Amino acid sequence: MSRTNRVRVRHCGSSMEENSSYTTDGDGGSTETPPTPTEGMTTVSHHYFGDSNGSDDAVSITIIESMKEDYGLFVWPCSVILAEYVWQQRSRFTGIRVVELGAGTSLPGLIAAKVGAHVILTDDSNRLEVLDNMRRVCELNNVKCEVMGLTWGVWDESIFSLQPQVILGADVLYDSSAFDNLFATVKFLLENAPGSVFITSYHNRSGHHLIEFLMVKWQLKCVKLLDGFSFLPSWKASGLSGNIQLVEIRV
Ligand SMILES: C[S@@+](CC[C@H](N)C(=O)[O-])C[C@H]1O[C@@H](n2cnc3c(N)ncnc32)[C@H](O)[C@@H]1O
Repeated sequence: MSRTNRVRVRHCGSSMEENSSYTTDGDGGSTETPPTPTEGMTTVSHHYFGDSNGSDDAVSITIIESMKEDYGLFVWPCSVILAEYVWQQRSRFTGIRVVELGAGTSLPGLIAAKVGAHVILTDDSNRLEVLDNMRRVCELNNVKCEVMGLTWGVWDESIFSLQPQVILGADVLYDSSAFDNLFATVKFLLENAPGSVFITSYHNRSGHHLIEFLMVKWQLKCVKLLDGFSFLPSWKASGLSGNIQLVEIRV
């Protein structure tokens, strides 16, 4: 599926320096340290977590995005919603092991790291550009996450020692042909770490009971289902659209 088949909504609650794109030779003259360029043009977006009055414990995350046609190089709306959920539940994330699947630009994982989780950001092992970008955003935000190639349904040795307490996945349920591989990985991680939970945000496009179907098929339990907009501050929600749900899943 190409990017043009999906609506990518510009986010509110974040600001984008569009057209302040860095040229590939890095001579854009920005006062910010330019991201090491990927192929094509990049842009930087800023994502704020805290109340609208600018509270003391507020956190801002900077993301490097690309204009290129690659799912892993944008901040998708599901990621904004999952990151906000992590922020609002931050006490739960302190000191725990978190793995983000299909992390792409990694906003939820980065905020989990900012609030004290030990985070392993993962994406398709074959998408080196996405993995490189993840390392850059970690540096840019001064967080120490591990970055690892993890392709759903592939059993590399490294997956056996992950044992996360929380697995995050934003907009990873977008291609039904990948659901089996994704859920094979999710189920393995959940069973390998007793008490762990998979928290995912996804577009419910069909209106059908996708999660119920997946829970029966994979013998998992959906322990929480929320409308993604129910906890999003209005100043963030106004720039997003779609039927986005957030679920917590356990064995
Ligand atoms: C729609 S993007 C979502 C990216 C990011 N989580 C967000 O919401 O902004 C889907 C992500 O899943 C990753 N992905 C797709 N297929 C994958 C696979 N088989 N194994 C691992 N990651 C995969 C893509 O590289 C991409 O980063």
